[in-house]
Amino acid sequence: MERVKSGIEGFDNLLGGGFLNHSVNLLSGCSGSGKTIFAVYYIYNGAKKFGEKGLYITLEEMTEHIVRDVGEIGLNLEDVDDELFHMYDLSALRANVLSTKDELSSPESPMRLDNLLEFIELNFQDAKRIAIDSLVPLNMVYEDMKTLRGELFRFTIGLKRLGITTVLTTEIPYSSHDLSRFGMEDFLSDSVTVFRMREEWGRQVKVHKMRGSNHFKDYVDYTISNQGLQVMYK
Ligand SMILES: Nc1ncnc2c1ncn2[C@@H]1O[C@H](COP(=O)(O)OP(=O)(O)OP(=O)(O)O)[C@@H](O)[C@H]1O
Ligand SMILES: [Mg+2]
Repeated sequence: MERVKSGIEGFDNLLGGGFLNHSVNLLSGCSGSGKTIFAVYYIYNGAKKFGEKGLYITLEEMTEHIVRDVGEIGLNLEDVDDELFHMYDLSALRANVLSTKDELSSPESPMRLDNLLEFIELNFQDAKRIAIDSLVPLNMVYEDMKTLRGELFRFTIGLKRLGITTVLTTEIPYSSHDLSRFGMEDFLSDSVTVFRMREEWGRQVKVHKMRGSNHFKDYVDYTISNQGLQVMYK
């Protein structure tokens, strides 16, 4: 089966070669565990190593800060084909003190998943990769979890129909055994990868589930340094 590689070699090996084509893949982890770095790598490597068009959508951090921070670990986003690498910044919407909850959830809100899907269909129907970092601010758009779950389900189906392979990030508390913030993103995803950090172990990553594929099932170490993100698995 065709695989969509993150381009992080040890990580692709954990998955048996990469994500499945047209799948939706959740990355869960506590703050500072490397979710943003991973999501940027996925789109960056897609463009740089595999010549695939991708879109990184930020709901949390401003693009300027992301560009600066990943530059520190060796990802030069200025130096990648701008036909292939794209960023879409929805973070200002939430940061803007004028954006009330009513505005964020209004029918025109670009943070609504139906509008976001329409935006992608209009502008990025030829993309191969999309990363959404993170899902957490969506709780400001949707009143209740049932609505969010339904909308997220429709959204993921729409992306699969477009032939896109998606990475979603979500956060879990530092010492939690949960797989996701809202308790449902993991059920809607074809694969779930958990990043954890502890004083005693350092950083570890585990592929918790992967529909339709064998994968490595234990925790392995990973590092983030000025050499980038490395997963210690051959
Ligand atoms: N230049 C660097 N050298 C070494 N480690 C770094 C460097 N830049 C970032 N890191 C590590 O990566 C972490 C940030 O990673 P990232 O922003 O991807 O985490 P995150 O999971 O998205 O966090 P959040 O939940 O807060 O968004 C930092 O806390 C730090 O430990
Ligand atoms: Mg982040």
